[in-house]
Amino acid sequence: MYRTHTCGELTLKNNNEKVTLCGWVQRIRDKGGMIWLDLRDRYGITQLAFDEGSVDPSLISQVKTLGREYVVQIQGIVIERVSKNLNIPTGEIEIKVESIKVLNPSEIPPFTIEDNTDGGEELRMKYRYLDLRRNSLKKALFLRHQLSMETRNYLNNVGFLEVETPYLIKSTPEGARDFVVPSRMNEGEFYALPQSPQTFKQLLMIAGYDKYFQIVKCFRDEDLRADRQPEFTQIDCEMSFVEQEDVLNTFEGLIKHLFKKIKNIDLYEFPRMLYSDAMTYYGSDKPDVRFGMRFVELNDIVKNKGFKVFDDAELVVGICAEGCSEYTRKQTDELTDFVKKPQIGATGLIYVKFNNDGTIKSSVDKFYNEEELKKWTAAFNAKPGDLLLVVAGQKEKTQKALCELRLEMGSRLGLRDAAIYAPLWVVDFPLLEWDEESGRYFAKHHPFTSPKPEHVALLETDPGAVNANAYDLVINGVEIGGGSIRIFNKELQQKMFKILGFTEEEAEAQFGFLMNAFKYGAPPHGGIAFGFDRLCSSFGGSDSIRDYIAFPKNNKGRDVMIDAPSVISELQLNELNLIVKKQ
Ligand code: AMO
Repeated sequence: MYRTHTCGELTLKNNNEKVTLCGWVQRIRDKGGMIWLDLRDRYGITQLAFDEGSVDPSLISQVKTLGREYVVQIQGIVIERVSKNLNIPTGEIEIKVESIKVLNPSEIPPFTIEDNTDGGEELRMKYRYLDLRRNSLKKALFLRHQLSMETRNYLNNVGFLEVETPYLIKSTPEGARDFVVPSRMNEGEFYALPQSPQTFKQLLMIAGYDKYFQIVKCFRDEDLRADRQPEFTQIDCEMSFVEQEDVLNTFEGLIKHLFKKIKNIDLYEFPRMLYSDAMTYYGSDKPDVRFGMRFVELNDIVKNKGFKVFDDAELVVGICAEGCSEYTRKQTDELTDFVKKPQIGATGLIYVKFNNDGTIKSSVDKFYNEEELKKWTAAFNAKPGDLLLVVAGQKEKTQKALCELRLEMGSRLGLRDAAIYAPLWVVDFPLLEWDEESGRYFAKHHPFTSPKPEHVALLETDPGAVNANAYDLVINGVEIGGGSIRIFNKELQQKMFKILGFTEEEAEAQFGFLMNAFKYGAPPHGGIAFGFDRLCSSFGGSDSIRDYIAFPKNNKGRDVMIDAPSVISELQLNELNLIVKKQ
């Protein structure tokens, strides 16, 4: 038997017991006369003690040959510690060691395996298996495990069946590029890795499996960010004989269950916000509603007073930062620089200080006297002490810039506490999105989302005005999940493909299998998919999903540990018919 206990479980209850432990050498402290060694495994740390006065000198010399991260097995007696560490469960005991066996030595690791490691990000990614020994990553993976277990428990208890769907499929359009896999047996043909199991889960509904879920890998070849990985995991779900309300209630239940079980937080009923309101009041379809600071449009008040920037703008809109009227010039300049960054995109920032003495001063005093500015402060319901921040320009760009500024002010004012959770359903998304560049409509969600029944007629006359039975779950400004009620009728699906610019032949070639299946008794159905990595990082209070994935890619899509992607041999290329033959 390698071990009788783990390194995280011995306490005073085990006093005087003879034990065998295995683990990694975390640290050795040689105090002259006494040597202490911290032994670590995934459960915790146990202190080993060696009293030079009372143990065999050969044991002491053996201890002195050990180094960090050696794997050892020890035998000894549990004793009470003199100076206790009440911060860890094993902190009241130590082991009086009788024998040590080195199971495997270790080279000096390239960074310290400590909470505050000296290793940089890239180095830790290269040696991810060492980084995974650290507490923060251990905690993250444990949280991920708990979330997946509780998700399965909950969905199983309410009658969902987990079904696996294939990874080698035909491309499903979800908006990103596909990763493709060449087929050796079918020359010149490729599989695509699924961006999501969307079409398969719909086929499962047609097959009669009316409550499906799957915790499943998805693959998207898109630009990476802190909340995006090329391969990520979804909790993918679908139900038959449901309306939007049924789907929202079922999965609100799941999310509440997870918060209760894992964080012991009782969440209130999730508010619902129309997509159009989210855009008008927060400039985003994923508003962070932990704080207010809603947008106020000023077009009617500020135009035609001689200030060209406002007169030419499609939208003049602002936020009220409470208690910030005493911002210095340096601080307002910082905010101006912030909104002018290319990724934020505003041309400038106008501010109005509603001073504590009741006077009002602005950066556009030349065009607006105090009487005029009073109309602004009234529109914001501002109080003395507040600061108004206003941007202007083309509508979407201006909304986006102010959204970023609102989040920045929220952070500066400490209104985005990671310990507070503000979930929200955003509903009634538009069905389609017009793309200027290609001069055509794209599906806002995906081509299988159904228009609202009362809007179907508009598909012929004004497709841009059609809303969908589509919804997103947003928590603290992050899109955690999204779904919709689906089209389940062949003719409507065909019409949708036509609006999206597919010819009948193209639609048939790509989606004939689905439209054909619709002919054989497709039930009304709908569903949702949650970004599981994002859910984990939200629970863990972090912005980056990488920390919750055991072996993630870096922001160039590389796995620097195994060095992938990599070139393959000519032989392999040949077998896959990928060699471009020279003439
Ligand atoms: P959607 O494309 O909105 O919907 O994806 C669902 C959720 O998956 C997460 N997500 C990602 N997480 C990490 N890295 C990525 N690259 C990434 N892309 C998406 C997000 C998102 O909300 N088939 C539909 C769902 C449905 O209609 O039922 C779909 O995939 O949290």
